[in-house]
Amino acid sequence: MEVPSVPNTGRILDYWLGGSHHFPIDIEAAKVFEQVYPQSPNVFRTLRQYIGRVTRYIESQGINQFIVFGSGLPTCGNVHEVVPQAKVLYTDIDQDNIKLGQQLLANHSNVNYTFCDATNLDSLDQSVVTQTLGTLGRLGVVFVGVAAFIPDEILTEVLDKLYDWTPAGTILALDFDGEAGAEYPQLLELLDSFGAHLYMRNPTTIKPLLGRWQLTAPGILPVAAWQAELSTPVLKTSEPVFMYGCVVYK
Ligand SMILES: C[S@@+](CC[C@H](N)C(=O)[O-])C[C@H]1O[C@@H](n2cnc3c(N)ncnc32)[C@H](O)[C@@H]1O
Repeated sequence: MEVPSVPNTGRILDYWLGGSHHFPIDIEAAKVFEQVYPQSPNVFRTLRQYIGRVTRYIESQGINQFIVFGSGLPTCGNVHEVVPQAKVLYTDIDQDNIKLGQQLLANHSNVNYTFCDATNLDSLDQSVVTQTLGTLGRLGVVFVGVAAFIPDEILTEVLDKLYDWTPAGTILALDFDGEAGAEYPQLLELLDSFGAHLYMRNPTTIKPLLGRWQLTAPGILPVAAWQAELSTPVLKTSEPVFMYGCVVYK
């Protein structure tokens, strides 16, 4: 790959997650984020572990077709590495992620990477969906690391459309940024300067966004605490929450 001149989120995350698909320009940008938000590497490692747990849970429910929104790079414990037998379609809005993702997946016959703007499901090429996943059965949908950048009205609409588009029995995993980020105004400014405004939420403001999707038993929890085995959302925390996660089904 040509050495890039601008940093990219997928590669910055790859750096924080200990991967090998990033460049000095990405490390430089990662360090700038770490200066204003030292928890960055940990937060994204925790998030990647959450992706692992929700993906394994979805597969344990008999689902072997996955679609991933705002995927970043397909490295460091991303979905197809957790469920290697499944068919997985990664999507993202970032052309660098798509290009590098396609290269990394070139030898995987059951995994593909294509463009989709998660705020507009019509941007997803249905022929690629069919080509990668075959006839749609119950789907696993991973919508992690992207809702934080989508305002309520649009997110509500997207989740509603996803509900209509997916077959009954589909399971959707999400995360949302918590309000702890508000303690880091420089982080918010930095993100804004990249054109990525951060929407921070709590369980009360998250719940109405889910619309017709039914919450699974663990409920809406800090991502580090989310486990499929929790039958009731008993965990309370006085710590500031960086990210909440929940799994819902149709
Ligand atoms: C913070 S990274 C999350 C990557 C991965 N899902 C994870 O949780 O580790 C956010 C990703 O969402 C992508 N993204 C941002 N806005 C998007 C949109 N409207 N549609 C699709 N992808 C988007 C970015 O390009 C980036 O790859």
